[in-house]
Parts: sequence; structure tokens; C-alpha cells
Amino acid sequence: MRSLDDLLTEGVSGRRVLVRSDLNVPLHKGTGEITDDGRIRASLPTVQALRDAGARVIVAAHLGRPKGTPDPQFSLAPVAARLGELLGTTVPLAADVAGQDAAAKAAALGNGDVLLLQNVRFEAAETSKDDAERGALADRLAGLADVYVDDAFGAVHRKHASVFDVALRLPHYAGRLVARELDVLTRLSTDPDRPYVVVLGGSKVSDKLAVIEALLPKVDRLLVGGGMCFTFLAAQDHGVGSSLLEADQVDTCRRLLAEAGGRIVLPVDILCADRFAADAETSLTPADAIPDDLMGLDIGPLTVDLFTAELVDARTVFWNGPMGVFELAPFAAGTRGVAEAVSAVEGLSVVGGGDSAAAVRQLGLDEDAYGHISTGGGASLEYLEGRELPGLTVLDDRSGS
Ligand code: 3PG
Repeated sequence: MRSLDDLLTEGVSGRRVLVRSDLNVPLHKGTGEITDDGRIRASLPTVQALRDAGARVIVAAHLGRPKGTPDPQFSLAPVAARLGELLGTTVPLAADVAGQDAAAKAAALGNGDVLLLQNVRFEAAETSKDDAERGALADRLAGLADVYVDDAFGAVHRKHASVFDVALRLPHYAGRLVARELDVLTRLSTDPDRPYVVVLGGSKVSDKLAVIEALLPKVDRLLVGGGMCFTFLAAQDHGVGSSLLEADQVDTCRRLLAEAGGRIVLPVDILCADRFAADAETSLTPADAIPDDLMGLDIGPLTVDLFTAELVDARTVFWNGPMGVFELAPFAAGTRGVAEAVSAVEGLSVVGGGDSAAAVRQLGLDEDAYGHISTGGGASLEYLEGRELPGLTVLDDRSGS
């Protein structure tokens, strides 16, 4: 895989560089303002290095999941403004993805300038399953530039035109963020320092089963919280009240518990509520005695203590998924407690992307206390599952692409 430094060594002054970044940031539902700019900040080192070297930088990115057609609520306009603020320059936004306006604005770039293309998912071809359709869009994107840099780690698991097909059409390089994420994930997968402890949360156990299967042979302990813990508790024949439960996964969880031989650690107490609301009546219950009419919305303080004790001697930690409904203040303590325990680990502590990365920032925790906060939730899980990630395969010149 050729790196950004390889490209800089070749020289990029005056060359048009198409950078695929993952700028898929959360927006406030009412105001449309960016609520967490972590992904934009994570994209800066690559863009800035290219600017410093005199490249004409054309950034392609997606936002949300529009239906393959322009939709103002998914416009990258707020992202262009924030990217410009952070870079200390004006970043114009093309009105289209790779049409006339994009071509005109790309042609007008001077050395060190940055252009953001409109949301690539405004083109249905971006996410098409049809190679020819994606290829036609990739041809237009490739026509805007001389070389391609993939820095969109959070999207490398997608076989999309701007992630995969365009790399087949231009000399391609891995950006700084992709290189950093890969370095960390390789350390997690290859001979991690032990004890190696994984903490998993989030709502859907079915999303995490594949990664649990892949990680179980490698980890010393697997701590399970969040909505997914209730299916594991049900697999131990405990009632879970009206908590989240994936009944069709109970047998699989039972098998995993048996295979783990005690290495899967489940909550011992649960903060329950009578309904899903910030002003709900709450009560703490033992994890094996959740009343029928209550739902578990966070792990309890005894579980935070238990998980902290399981983490204290860890030398490698990977954490993905919140421990409870941290967006509602009464149910944030479990996620906060585990986040603090992970940050205190001596050794490599990695926060998987998505909700757990958002939790670290929204709870006001110190980002620098972690070894690495990934920008790719789905991508890092798929990597750890051992799945092939199209956006990485295509960058690897040994793959024949
Ligand atoms: C993400 O948010 O995980 C990445 O930006 C990928 O987005 P997607 O799940 O909509 O493909």
C-alpha cells in the first residue's frame, strides 16, 4: 500500500489530488448544526499535508444516507464551512458531485486550495451494486484529478464508487488517517500485549455476534454491557423485563457463553426504568432479578466496579458500544464509568468509532487519555472480524488492482 509520504516524495505541487474523507458527522435535528466534528478534525492531517506540499485538493465525502438524489438536509454545506474554519481557509462546496460545477471549481483551484464536492451519495451510482454504474461515476470522479488518496477509514468497508472503483482508475495512496487506524487495528489483531480485554456494548447483539465469534479465541476477557447484555442475561435463563431482547439470538449467546468458559463477563446490576425517558422512575436491580414491568437502560454501579476491576491490569483494550442510553443523563453513568476505566489503562486503549467515540466527546472526557479513538465503528468491527474491506483491498497493490 503506498502511503501519503510516498506521494509527497513523488511531489504533488500543482497536481490535482482527489481525497476521499469520511466527513459523516452527526447534525442537530433541529438546527442542522454539527454536534461532533471529530471526523472533520481527524481528516485534517492528510488535507493539510497536501496543501502544504502545493497540491490542489478535491475532497469527496458522504453525509448520512440520502436516497441517491440531491436532498438539502444531507448537504455538505455545514461540513465545508467547518472544514474551512479548521483549515483557516475558505473551502468552496461544489453544487454537484462530479458534474459541471465540480469540474469548473476543480479547474479553478490554485496550489494549496481545497474544494469539497457535494455529498457523493446524491448520485445513486455511488452505492450501486452494479459495477458498470459505479464505474461510470468513478470515471467522472477520476476525471477531476491526477491521483487518489483514500483517507475515509470509516467507509473502507463499503464497496462504493468513491471508495473502491475510483482507486482502480487513478494512482492510489492511503492517507494518514487510514494508515493510523490500520496500524492500531493491526496491533489489536497481531500478538496484543496481555491481558487483552474487549468491552462491547450498544443495542443490537446481532450486530456484534460476528465480532464476538472472531475475538473470543484471542481475548482474555470480554465484558458485555449495553442493550445487547439482555440477550446474554436471557441466555442464562434470567428474566429481562421489557429490556431490549433479541429472542432469536438467545441460543447463540448461550453457546458463546459455554465456549467462553467464564471469559465473558456480564453485568451484575442494572439501572432500570418504567419507560424510555429522561424523567422516568428509575430503580437499581440485580441483573438476575429484573422485574417484568421494567426495562434496563444502563449498567449499575456494582457492574462499573466489576468492569473497572477487570480492566485494571489490562495491557490492551478495545471498547465498542455504550453501556447504556448515555444520551439521557440518568443513564450515562455506566458509559462514563467504563470510559474512565478504559482511559486509565496502561498500554493500548482503543475506542471503536460511532457511539462510543461520540460518548467520549459528549461526556466531556479527555480524548487524549486514550491511545486511539477510531473514526470507523463499522469498519473497525469488520476489520477485527477478519472480513475483507474493499476500500483497503483496492489500495493494496499486491491485490492486482
Ligand atoms: C459511518 O458513519 O460509519 C461511516 O461514515 C459509514 O457510513 P455508512 O454506514 O452510512 O456507510
